[in-house]
Amino acid sequence: MDRKEKNKIKKYLLLQRDLGFDEFYLPESSRRPRKITVKRLGIDNFAEAESVDQLEATIKRCKRCPLGKTRTNFVFGVGNPEADIMFIGEAPGRDEDLQGMPFVGRAGKLLDKMLAEIGLNRNEVYIANILKCRPPNNRDPEQDEVDQCLPYLTKQIKIIKPKAICSLGRIAAQRILQTNMALGAMRGRWFDYHGIKFMVTYHPAAILRSNSYLPGALEDLKRLLKTVNPRKTGMK
Ligand code: URA
Repeated sequence: MDRKEKNKIKKYLLLQRDLGFDEFYLPESSRRPRKITVKRLGIDNFAEAESVDQLEATIKRCKRCPLGKTRTNFVFGVGNPEADIMFIGEAPGRDEDLQGMPFVGRAGKLLDKMLAEIGLNRNEVYIANILKCRPPNNRDPEQDEVDQCLPYLTKQIKIIKPKAICSLGRIAAQRILQTNMALGAMRGRWFDYHGIKFMVTYHPAAILRSNSYLPGALEDLKRLLKTVNPRKTGMK
C-alpha cells in the first residue's frame, strides 16, 4: 500500500470517527494477514531491486563470505523504508543474529531510549548495519566481509534515500566514508555521502560501557533531528 492509499484510508477512518463510529466490523476474509510476495532477482542482479522488500528477498540467502555459513539469521534492516533518517551500526550481535533484526539486544534497547529522548521511535527511522551477518564472537568486521556486504547497504541507502545518515560508532563510519579518521575527529561535523548528510555518534554499546558518552550522543541526535526536516508522522 503506498502513502497515498494510506492517507485515503486514514481520512476515511477520521471521517467515520467524526460521525460517531468507534468500531468497525470487517469480514473474516479481510482480517487474515495477506502474504505479500516480492519478485526475487538473481543475487548478482541485486542492484536492480526497486524496493527494500525486493532487495531483501534477493540477498537474504547470501553466502558470499564465510559469515553466511555461521549466521543464524540474515539481518537485513528494519524501520520505515521512506524514513528521512537512517542509522547504521556495525554488525549483528548474538541477539540480532537470533532474532534477525538489528539492534534488539542491550545496545538496541538503549538506542530505542535515545530515540525516545528526541521524540522518535524505530518505526519512524530506518536501522541497518554495514554487515548483515554476525561475525563470530562479535569480532570487528574483516575487510573482505565489508567488501562483499557494503554494496548491499549502498543499494539499501539508494532505495531509502534518507535525508541524513547517522553512523553508530567509528567502524561503520570509517568503512562507509573510507577513512581512517578517529571518532573524535568525525563527531560534530557533517560529511557528504553521495549528496546525503552523514554524521557520526557514539555506538550505544560504547555508551553502555561508559555512561559519560550519553549526553554527547543525545546532543548529536538532537542536531541530527534539527538538521533534517522530518516528514514522517509523529515527527514535529
Ligand atoms: N551492534 C551493532 O552495531 N549492530 C547491531 O545490530 C547490534 C549491535
